[in-house]
Amino acid sequence: MSRVFLPAAGLDVLLPLYDPLWRLFGGERRRADFIRDAGIASGQRILDVGCGTGSLLVQIAETVKGTRLSGLDPDGKALVRCRQKAARAGVDIDWCEGFADELPHADASFDRVLSSFMFHHLDLDVKQGMLREVRRVLTPGGEFHLIDFGGQHQGTHAALARLFHSHTQLADNRAGRVAALFEEAGFDDIREVSQHRSVLGSYAHVRGVAG
Ligand SMILES: C[S@@+](CC[C@H](N)C(=O)[O-])C[C@H]1O[C@@H](n2cnc3c(N)ncnc32)[C@H](O)[C@@H]1O
Repeated sequence: MSRVFLPAAGLDVLLPLYDPLWRLFGGERRRADFIRDAGIASGQRILDVGCGTGSLLVQIAETVKGTRLSGLDPDGKALVRCRQKAARAGVDIDWCEGFADELPHADASFDRVLSSFMFHHLDLDVKQGMLREVRRVLTPGGEFHLIDFGGQHQGTHAALARLFHSHTQLADNRAGRVAALFEEAGFDDIREVSQHRSVLGSYAHVRGVAG
């Protein structure tokens, strides 16, 4: 695959540190909140775009029975970890190598699309392409749930947040810009579900419904 992308931990050599760092950051509890707030339920077909090392989908498989799960990421090394993690947990998930703005899935093939802490890895044109693709693969009435860094990074959390989020892609994640991008892509009923502060910076969960 010749396209360039920003991997999970910024550099390939840091990938082994990604899951331990997320554990320190309270990853399991944060994912549990996201799964609950995204209304994940039995019977749904769910796609995680930019699935990284696969923790979100494995946690869904373990906690909500009867879902059909697919994960997509351009990083073959991260997908190896996804497959190992799913095998260890004894859960069945379809993993696919690819890019967010060129989804290989059929029109209207998912009830929920999820995206967790990956949007800030994308340039603006890829973000726009991803949103068009997510809308295409959702069934009418299907929901897109995106959680990512954004907000104003003010107060005591500001210094660390700025250190971690110096790349320009983050600018499109700030205050209201994500909702505007959802609107441009034709999503309905766009809503900020929740806002959070952490040592790594502020982050928000935004939801849009495919018409
Ligand atoms: C910070 S990680 C987040 C991983 C996972 N979703 C999580 O919450 O732990 C960002 C992920 O986005 C992926 N990514 C980067 N560019 C991408 C693109 N154009 N399309 C899809 N995924 C991409 C990276 O490979 C990486 O796995």
